[in-house]
Amino acid sequence: MKRQQAIGIIDSGVGGLTVAREILRQLPHEQIIYVGDNARCPYGSRPTHEIRAFSFQLIQFLQNLDVKALVIACNTAGAVIMDELYASTNLPAIGVIEPGARAAIAATRSGRIGVIGTETTIRTAAYERALKRMNPELTITSLACPAFVPLVEQQLLETVNAHDVIESTLSPLKREQLDTLILGCTHYPLLAPLIQDVLGASVTLINSAEETARELTDLFTARALHTDNASAEPVHQFFTSGDTHIFQEIGEQWLGREIRVQSLPTAVSQMD
Ligand code: DGL
Repeated sequence: MKRQQAIGIIDSGVGGLTVAREILRQLPHEQIIYVGDNARCPYGSRPTHEIRAFSFQLIQFLQNLDVKALVIACNTAGAVIMDELYASTNLPAIGVIEPGARAAIAATRSGRIGVIGTETTIRTAAYERALKRMNPELTITSLACPAFVPLVEQQLLETVNAHDVIESTLSPLKREQLDTLILGCTHYPLLAPLIQDVLGASVTLINSAEETARELTDLFTARALHTDNASAEPVHQFFTSGDTHIFQEIGEQWLGREIRVQSLPTAVSQMD
């Protein structure tokens, strides 16, 4: 029965756990299978053809496990592959960019929205296009923040340096009189307090993860895909192409629960 199958989630590494966490919170009876491509992370500064090839390798792995839906938690991957994915699969698929754009439009009053993300996410203008499709009148300012992912990956959040890096990177946004900022990268919700501190309380920060989980819930309702096994404690699966112990440590810390992590079969993440 399709509705009992798991939700497949892909990301370039651990960052997508911010999306997994929201899905587990909003859909507590669903089982997830999460694949993190830590060995090839970060995707954000890679050429488009690599991001595309790697993402479809992970998707194929999840399709072989017969998942009932696909969540592309990685903004960078979503910016590159979403249109092709919609065209090539019958599986319900959701990325984080459209839900994030919708949440920003619901939040803004002035119509002045900022977007921050990896170099690829900003270069593809995926958020900008999604926002303009929904409302052509918006004023959008986009900024790549390549220094932010390493702050999270290297666990430097508590340092003075983190505040300085965020302050200097975001300084061009301060002139823009934004009232809403999309955190267009899996890692940025973990930097939210620092970003808020730098930009001030008048800017609403949009965490795409929350909205993505909400839209996944709506999608399941529309397509009758909610599990009907509401009493069961789902056993989630986590796969990584990198170090399973490091993944497990970060995963347990972020998700606040014990997790079992397996190595992604090497054939899945072989370089082309
Ligand atoms: N997961 C990526 C994203 O959301 C950030 C890390 C990376 O560059 O791979 O854009």
